[in-house]
Parts: sequence; structure tokens; C-alpha cells
Amino acid sequence: MPLPKIFQNALSIPAIGSPMFLVSFPPLVTAQCKAGVVGTFPHVNARTSEQFDTWLSLIETELASERTQKPFSAIAPHGVNLIVHRSNPRFDPDLELVIKHRVPFVITCLGHPGKVVEAVHGYGGVVFCDITSAEHARKSIDSGADGLICVGAGAGGHASTQSAFSLVREIREFWDGCLVLGGGINDGFQIRAAESLGADLVYMGTRFIATQESNAQQEFKQMLIDCDVSDLIYTDRLSGIHANFLKPSLDKWGVDVYQLPPKKADMSSLTDTNAKLWKDLWSAGQGIATIHDAPCVSDLVARISNEYEIACKMGPSHAIKQPALGHANS
Ligand SMILES: Cc1cc2nc3c(=O)[nH]c(=O)nc-3n(C[C@H](O)[C@H](O)[C@H](O)COP(=O)(O)O)c2cc1C
Repeated sequence: MPLPKIFQNALSIPAIGSPMFLVSFPPLVTAQCKAGVVGTFPHVNARTSEQFDTWLSLIETELASERTQKPFSAIAPHGVNLIVHRSNPRFDPDLELVIKHRVPFVITCLGHPGKVVEAVHGYGGVVFCDITSAEHARKSIDSGADGLICVGAGAGGHASTQSAFSLVREIREFWDGCLVLGGGINDGFQIRAAESLGADLVYMGTRFIATQESNAQQEFKQMLIDCDVSDLIYTDRLSGIHANFLKPSLDKWGVDVYQLPPKKADMSSLTDTNAKLWKDLWSAGQGIATIHDAPCVSDLVARISNEYEIACKMGPSHAIKQPALGHANS
């Protein structure tokens, strides 16, 4: 599928840096965009609407200056993730700010995106909806979304249990628009595989937590390097929606999810701890299987781009011969 115009000739690899609560702050977003990856952040990472306004101005100014200085470089547009749920009091004021700043790319999650689609299309922006099932995808298409972000099994944050192989092919039976695939994607070989499956772009979260520019605590970044998939726990007992969490971060605060009620968690029930979800109890996806370092974003994207080029030229078997590409120092 042709990409929306805002992404054409603006990307160094076909990837979106996914929005991550408490992780994607302006330094990560601008570093991703400057490296040719769409940088995005959840609007609620800014503590107030005033701060959201300031962040948008800051990102725009920094990217405009980069485009002036490097007119021939691929500098990606930035995007914002809006939580559409009616319980979100920031939704209306922050949508006004998205319109004021004419944010080029908007991702919606947790609610009906219709109002956002209408508002963002009004100034020529693009709206993609985050989905985890075909049913959810059909609703987003009906609301006029420009693209679907399919978050498959093994993703960081809230994830489905449906394999990417199954999810993408199911959605391609009824959607020929732009399709983004997320869940455990860290390197250029996986990006090429996603394209073979029918995706136009990939959505990468966990890999970018372990970068110098991410806002994650140092201990969180190190945990991604030290842990493997056996350290993940997939549970709905913390947020009420199934998500992958790093078990060592739960252990640190004495949180045993099997002792918690199975439905929506009441954090006050975590008696012996003041641990806060996302801030202290950390989420990550199965991408941790191949995270061995925390480089700066430009180095990471250069590495992924190199892998992607090899994968495009050489075909899939070459990926097997290049296991050390993802961790140059090992
Ligand atoms: C720590 C963390 C925080 C996240 N916060 C958000 C969020 O605020 N909004 C959102 O739409 N998705 C959020 N996600 C999900 C990501 O946007 C994306 O779907 C996921 O990271 C892709 O899978 P991957 O982590 O395996 O690459 C979060 C994921 C992680 C790991």
C-alpha cells in the first residue's frame, strides 16, 4: 500500500517509535525523528495541557531547525497518542492543542476515534488506530482511520494473544490501507519479515526503552539487558487489561500478581508497597530476548537500517548468519 504522504521520503527505515507512558519524552521523540523513525509520545506524558503545548512547540522547533540544517536527510514527522476514553479529562483540551499545532500524525487508543479523525483530517493530518483484534480493526475502519496499528502477541504494554502471522493476514482479508505491525520487533530482519507478511510499517516500543534518550530509569534499561522472555509475566491483574510486565520489577516491590483480584486492580490493595504501575512496575515485550545494550538512537537506527538492507538484498536465510549484528560488542 502507498504510505500516507507525510511518511514518503521521510523515513530511513519503515518504522514508527511507538508511544510509551513515562518513556517517550521529547528527547526520545526528536532523536527518533532526526534518525528517520516516526517519533511519538502519549499526550499524558506531559503532566498538564500547558506542558503538552510547550512540548509540541519544542519538538516542532527542533525538527524544523534539523530540516533546515540537513535538507537532504530523512527526517520523520512526529506524532501524538491520544487516549480517547471518556474517563480522560485531558482529551478535549489536548485535542484542541493537537489542532492548534497541526500535529501531523495522531494515534488513538482506548475508545472511538471518530471525533479525532474529523478534527485531524480538518487540517490535513493523519490518524492511525491501535488495534489488537479484527473486530476492533473493523470499528476503526468504519470511523475513517487512515491506518491500522496491529499490536500482536508479545508486545510491550497492553498486548493481545493473537500471533502477528494470524492477525496481519486476517486483517489483510478486508483492509488494503496502511497497516503497521507491532510486537517484539527489534531489528531489520524482523522489519523485512513484517513487510513480507503484509505490513507497510512496523511499530517498535521495547527496543527504544533501552536507548540513551529514553526517559526510562537506568535500572529499567539495565533490566531489559539482563532479562529474557522467562522474566515476563502476562497479566490483567495490574491494569485490568492484559499486559506484559517485567517480573523482577514486581518482585522488587513484593507484588505477587497471583494474590491480586483477577479483575481491574485496585492499587491500594498492594498493601506492603507504594509501587506505582508503569512508574515502578515496568512493562516490556518479548523483544527483550535480543536487547543487549542501550545505545543512542542514531546508532541503533543505523544498525537496524544496515540489517534491513542486508535482509532486503540477501533474503531470509542471511538473518541466520548474522546473529551478532544486533550486539556488536558481544
Ligand atoms: C513501557 C511501555 C509503555 C507503553 N505505554 C503506552 C501508551 O501510553 N500508549 C499506547 O498506546 N501504547 C503504549 N505502549 C504500547 C506501545 O505503544 C506498543 O504497542 C508496543 O511497545 C509495541 O510492542 P514492543 O514493545 O514489543 O515493540 C507501551 C509499551 C511499553 C513497553
